[in-house]
Amino acid sequence: MAINMKGKSLISINDLSHEEVWQIFEVSASLKQKRLTGEPHRILEGKTLGMIFSKPSTRTRVSFEVGIYELGGIGMYFGPNDLQLKKSESVADTAKVLSRFLSGIMIRTFDHQDVVDLARYGSIPVINGLTDLLHPCQVLTDLFTIYEKKRQLRGLKLAYVGDGNNMAHSLLNGCSKVGMDISIASPSGYKPNEQIVNDALANAKYMGSKVEIVDDPIQAVKNADVVYTDVWASMGQESEAAERKLKFQKYQVNPELVKNAKEDYLFMHCLPAHRGDEVVNEVADSPNSIIFDEAENRLHVQKAIMALLM
Ligand code: CP
Ligand code: NVA
Repeated sequence: MAINMKGKSLISINDLSHEEVWQIFEVSASLKQKRLTGEPHRILEGKTLGMIFSKPSTRTRVSFEVGIYELGGIGMYFGPNDLQLKKSESVADTAKVLSRFLSGIMIRTFDHQDVVDLARYGSIPVINGLTDLLHPCQVLTDLFTIYEKKRQLRGLKLAYVGDGNNMAHSLLNGCSKVGMDISIASPSGYKPNEQIVNDALANAKYMGSKVEIVDDPIQAVKNADVVYTDVWASMGQESEAAERKLKFQKYQVNPELVKNAKEDYLFMHCLPAHRGDEVVNEVADSPNSIIFDEAENRLHVQKAIMALLM
């Protein structure tokens, strides 16, 4: 039976049940098919999505805006200088005001707590479009994409090589939620958040899967079904880029490293990629790479999320 998710916010994958995650995937597949065959699916006719961006974006911005339009609604973009938010108005007051106008809010910002507070003080669904801590829409899309390619999630192994950042955190949440093994290799000082690792360990115990945090990228990639990486310096960390580049050299995803993965491994990256740093062209453009299918699926999965929550 369908689970009613109407009115809920999506701030972390860990807030979703296993069943809710699969419901998102089912609706994503159905909306993807409808778009392909030109079948109308204006489920959100007359609805408005506010899209708050304190950081730049290509995929998130375009896929949410196209997505809400295709569902029959309208998206309103607010860039870093458009709202009074956190300049002359609190998050709480902004949440209360926007709730009087909009049907939902998608927000990309720095401080994760701002997203939590927006949902807490507002009365409409809030969708996390990336914070310094998490990127749940990306990882729901990633899992959906892996499922499309492999027709299974449980029992597969994902290796994440690189910074213990928002992507690593949401992958820990997401993989452990669906019973995929996850192994993360990061240099010391750049390991993922301990609380998130502990939550993932608890999920994994329940699902019978594994969570491993290691130093050695070869160990992480060994027999992996999916090899994932992300930029070494995230948005907001630009001033650390040179220092990080030195510290992360060993963590580049290149042909030598992926030899340790399964032969039919999938290469994934949330993008934007800094080619020549965390990944080289020989891997990013190889037949194993599914980075552009992954990017496209942002549209289908976020349409499903909006359709279910709004
Ligand atoms: N992967 C992703 O979120 O891309 P953008 O930063 O372009 O939105
Ligand atoms: N870790 C990256 C992800 C971009 C989609 C960042 O936060 O900049």
